[in-house]
Amino acid sequence: MAPSVLAADLGQLRSEMERVDSHVEMFHLDVMDGLYVPNLTFGAPVIEKVRPAVNAFFDCHLMVIEPLRLFEALAGAGADHVTLHTDVCDDPTEAGSFARRLGMGFGLALSPALAPAVIRPHLAGLDMVTVMSVEPGFGGQAFMPETLSKVETIRRWIDDEELKTALQIDGGITPETAPLAAAAGADIFVAGTAVFARADPVEAVGMLRRSIHSAMSSADGA
Ligand code: DX5
Ligand code: ZN
Repeated sequence: MAPSVLAADLGQLRSEMERVDSHVEMFHLDVMDGLYVPNLTFGAPVIEKVRPAVNAFFDCHLMVIEPLRLFEALAGAGADHVTLHTDVCDDPTEAGSFARRLGMGFGLALSPALAPAVIRPHLAGLDMVTVMSVEPGFGGQAFMPETLSKVETIRRWIDDEELKTALQIDGGITPETAPLAAAAGADIFVAGTAVFARADPVEAVGMLRRSIHSAMSSADGA
């Protein structure tokens, strides 16, 4: 589980994160610049302030036009991984080496309009692929079921090539849609609204996990 803090009360981000920290593997931090997407969120200075308070892995989802300019500051702030959009990453090999030199993992995100073929040549060099199941920019949007076939395709490539690349889905994940994504082959689930907009975010994480596990155990039994 990777809760997206975009849906948290950003006025008390640290305590919001502390509350769920021990119940999740990862936090998803949506860094937006108001240019690549119309929304503007936060960057390294905010991430640096919350990092000492929480233990989970930090994946920074960069929705910015010049993502490489942020790498050093994000690494300094304690980011563990950066996810870049394919259309603002001209050279994923170079970007990946730069991220790793700074001690961060590196992945690519695929917007709904793009085909998975864009990712394929780079797959072996990625720590994580993110299939966007909403248009980047805002939380609280409806899940786009047509993106599931991309998860299936990329899962097949990862398995066929015996890669260690993680496959993440981002957008509109709820206890209803998470099992669909799990069945398609996703292994990391970003959820903003379905965690932080709930009265009890810890219980919400548990509900999401149970929905995923029940989908996986019924698939195993089939
Ligand atoms: C959208 C972001 C998502 C967003 C997900 O641009 O990439 O990470 O926070 O929010 P929900 O879970 O509300 O769709
Ligand atoms: Zn995101």
